Amino acid sequence: RLIMMDQNEKKLNVAKAAIHYIHNDCLLGMGTGSTINFLIDLLPEIKNKITAVASSSVQTENLLKKNGFEVRPLNQLGMLDLYIDGADEATGNLHLIKGGGGALTREKILAENSNKFICIADETKLVKRLGNFPLPIEVIPMARSFVSREIIKYQGKPVYRENFKTDNGNEIIDIYNLDIIDPIKLENELNQIPGVVTVGIFARRRADVLLIADEQGVEEIYPQ
Ligand code: A5P
Repeated sequence: RLIMMDQNEKKLNVAKAAIHYIHNDCLLGMGTGSTINFLIDLLPEIKNKITAVASSSVQTENLLKKNGFEVRPLNQLGMLDLYIDGADEATGNLHLIKGGGGALTREKILAENSNKFICIADETKLVKRLGNFPLPIEVIPMARSFVSREIIKYQGKPVYRENFKTDNGNEIIDIYNLDIIDPIKLENELNQIPGVVTVGIFARRRADVLLIADEQGVEEIYPQ
């Protein structure tokens, strides 16, 4: 009899698979989101392997503390060995959209500051082309309207994320209707708009390994 797995079981399975990548003496960075939360709950099992952990959000920091970890400021750690995070969309080429939870800026800092970046997700996140999920952009509050007008030139439909402030005290615009053919180019261009703090495209620094959980198990995907 075929028993369908629900999405949470897949998230748990992919979190379990990620545990195996955490080696001895690991300087670890932790992402944000429901998939990562499963991983944080498993971390105490391998606490002795982790030398120090840096966090991408207040939410993750609180959960890490609850699980007995002391979170260290990135400025004290230098380059991390490993960063593990979820995604809102991922391609087979390991380009990502992130920021659905609004933590994209600290996530991108940690990803760029890590020797290895593993992205974990269930199969619903795997796409042929990025852009169906609205692209989050963190902006300085006073630049929100200006950035939105600039985005319209790219045929995107900017929607202000109501009643939301990032951990950095900024705001988020979610861009609908983008068909992201060249993720690196768009990431670079949008980064140039004054007032943009972080673009939710993770392509210049894409993931090094993508773990995708489906009914059959967990697939390991490397860049083509
Ligand atoms: C947080 O801002 C995002 O980048 C998350 O990584 C993303 O939203 C994944 O979250 P879930 O694991 O809850 O889907």
